[in-house]
Amino acid sequence: MVNVIILAAGKGTRMRSQLPKVLQKLADKPLLAHVVGTAKSLNAENIIVVYGHGGEQVKSRFSHENINWVEQAEQLGTGHAVQVTLPVLPESGKSIILYGDVPLVQPETLTQLLASNTSGLSMITLELENPAGLGRIIRDDNDKITQIIEEKDANEYQKHIQEVNTGIYCVDNALLHELLPNLSNENAQQEYYLTDIVKMAADKGIEITSIKPAFAYETDGVNNRQQLAALERKWQNYQVEQLQIQGVQFADPARVDIRGHITLGQDVFIDTNVILSGECVIGDGVTISTGCVVHNSSIGSHTLLKPYCVVADSQIGEQADIGPFAHIRPQTTLASGTKVGNFVETKKSVIGAGSKVNHLSYIGDATVGENCNIGAGTITCNYDGVNKHQTHIADEVFVGTNTSLVAPVAVGKGATIGAGSVITKDVADNQLSVARGRQVNKDNYQRPTKADTTETDANNQETNN
Ligand code: UD1
Ligand code: CA
Repeated sequence: MVNVIILAAGKGTRMRSQLPKVLQKLADKPLLAHVVGTAKSLNAENIIVVYGHGGEQVKSRFSHENINWVEQAEQLGTGHAVQVTLPVLPESGKSIILYGDVPLVQPETLTQLLASNTSGLSMITLELENPAGLGRIIRDDNDKITQIIEEKDANEYQKHIQEVNTGIYCVDNALLHELLPNLSNENAQQEYYLTDIVKMAADKGIEITSIKPAFAYETDGVNNRQQLAALERKWQNYQVEQLQIQGVQFADPARVDIRGHITLGQDVFIDTNVILSGECVIGDGVTISTGCVVHNSSIGSHTLLKPYCVVADSQIGEQADIGPFAHIRPQTTLASGTKVGNFVETKKSVIGAGSKVNHLSYIGDATVGENCNIGAGTITCNYDGVNKHQTHIADEVFVGTNTSLVAPVAVGKGATIGAGSVITKDVADNQLSVARGRQVNKDNYQRPTKADTTETDANNQETNN
């Protein structure tokens, strides 16, 4: 059983934000949520978050999670941050130490870190071209890790070492209980350094093992807006690559954003500037055209989303044809073979197989049967100012252009509604309903003529009155 300790007490001054740093979002999810998610995927028995700045705001965002919150009122260093967890940290077992602002460390890497802790302490290190600012790994002649030296405490020789500390460790709890109370802050920064436990453990004869992350971005931290944006891009590139390997074609891998858990079938084509977010399941052969935003939705095989559609919390069946410019709002279900055209908005509605809503309509709180044709400009008048009401349209209904369906109202199977109708009463199966002013034609009608244009302005006004 493993504990996960997440250090998140830092202020994040360099973000210049009202929001605590760990609540800043990467791929539309707070940094800390990425780390908590990773901890959960390791089946951690205990997730301890060390908080300081903006504590209440952070806690309330995670109130639904089973987290052991420990306050570090004053930030006296990474070693002190772990020290404050000792009262809630079990005496046995192991702990993985992570950071609220290092969001993308992957579960597989941590599983490896855990496995490599064979004698009490394992850590993740990295070789960097430019190691500036980071703690350097000191190894002895046998290549065993003996110590970590912070840059500010390093001599010229040590500064040339390119192997750096990522700050991520897996340590036996017994060792943390034993070593942490003995930390001192006699160093360049007058901080209690967590890194000092490495030397203390090595001095006890513990062999410190190290692994490398599979991807360098896994251990990237976020301290400012530039780093956050850069990490977002790295994460996007990685995800796009994984999807390409699975058989998804992107028009331009640099112009798409994946912000959630997206499952895509084979031969999906994704054009430029598409955003996929939340939980989405997208079937084989789907085309998502430029500018589409799809959130928490499923799209059946071979469906075509034409440019600039917004789909949220909805289900779209197979071989549907949607857009351009369709707005599929929450709780819409579009069956197979439906056609929803430009400037159509749907919400809390089910549209049956083969039905078409091709132009300029609003279908809300409605059911539409199979093989219906809903004419241009049809509106379900679902709201009376206080309550929402339902419209039910059975199979094979033809609704003429510019019809208002004043809910609650039902239209029976095979019924036909004349164009321009305002339907306030139910229509039975196979009826024709026309609900509009009758057309009146008058012979030889004389149109008004304009007054003499040579008249003065004043006279003109009189004439108009
Ligand atoms: C630390 C390591 C360094 C490593 C680097 C990797 C130490 C002494 N040094 O340095 O070897 O190369 O990380 O990024 O550990 N925090 C708290 N409470 C505190 C202090 C820090 O919660 O009192 C949290 C911060 O919010 C931050 C993290 O710990 O997320 C790292 O702290 P920071 O002071 O930035 O350590 P570094 O100087 O980066
Ligand atoms: Ca740092």
